[in-house]
Amino acid sequence: MYTDQELIDILSRLSSWLSLQRQLGVEAIARGHGVDTFLRSSGDRVSIKGSKMVEKQREGLGTPDGLKEVLDLLGDCKRCELYIERHHIIFGEGPEDARLLLLGEAPGREEDLQGRPFVGASGELLNKMLAAIDISREEVYITNIVKCRPPHNRTPRPEEISMCRPFLEHQLRIIDPPLILALGRVAAQSLLNTSSSLRSLRGRLHKLGNTRVVVTYHPSYLLRQRGDRQKELKREAWYDLQLLEREYSKYR
Ligand code: URA
Repeated sequence: MYTDQELIDILSRLSSWLSLQRQLGVEAIARGHGVDTFLRSSGDRVSIKGSKMVEKQREGLGTPDGLKEVLDLLGDCKRCELYIERHHIIFGEGPEDARLLLLGEAPGREEDLQGRPFVGASGELLNKMLAAIDISREEVYITNIVKCRPPHNRTPRPEEISMCRPFLEHQLRIIDPPLILALGRVAAQSLLNTSSSLRSLRGRLHKLGNTRVVVTYHPSYLLRQRGDRQKELKREAWYDLQLLEREYSKYR
């Protein structure tokens, strides 16, 4: 038996899934594995790479040649419920040929209002982190796993991540950065298609095709810590940044 809340959750996920199928031009659906998988996905698992749903949506989007075309495909996106409360879609910013891409989780309040990624308090810290290793914000491409702000800055849901995934994949294919810095657990797990802890993902280079990935704490997480704990985590983040700097020096 399901609780009322579980039923609401299932119906809301089913409704997002059906609306995606409609956008893809699907007019009839035979009940099967895809629906079951979709309904079962829940909690904080974000490993959606390769799912049938993402494959299908990606196919439906064709193969855009430039970021502008990806933006056009995204349009006034209503593929998930995040459009309801957003002010702006925060697609990303930076040079199309950037050698380093920074990947966050989702826009926050300030980003939603200004229409740019990482412009709030976490953006300020991010700029300082970059400056500490002589990287300017202008030379990197910055984007997020999810392009619209989740209400109250909650963690994006698996179905929201999965709706945005094809657009991120197009961005990555077009920019083709040799190096990515994943900021925080959601960005790292989603990008690397793993449920491993952030702690276990930090401190080493990951391979994603021809791209290397460095994982570190999200600036907002660092800002939320206090006292010795904050110092300790900032010290760990500094090791990650040094790893990033060493690797980036090969591609600049
Ligand atoms: N946090 C993120 O993950 N991304 C932003 O753009 C801002 C805050």
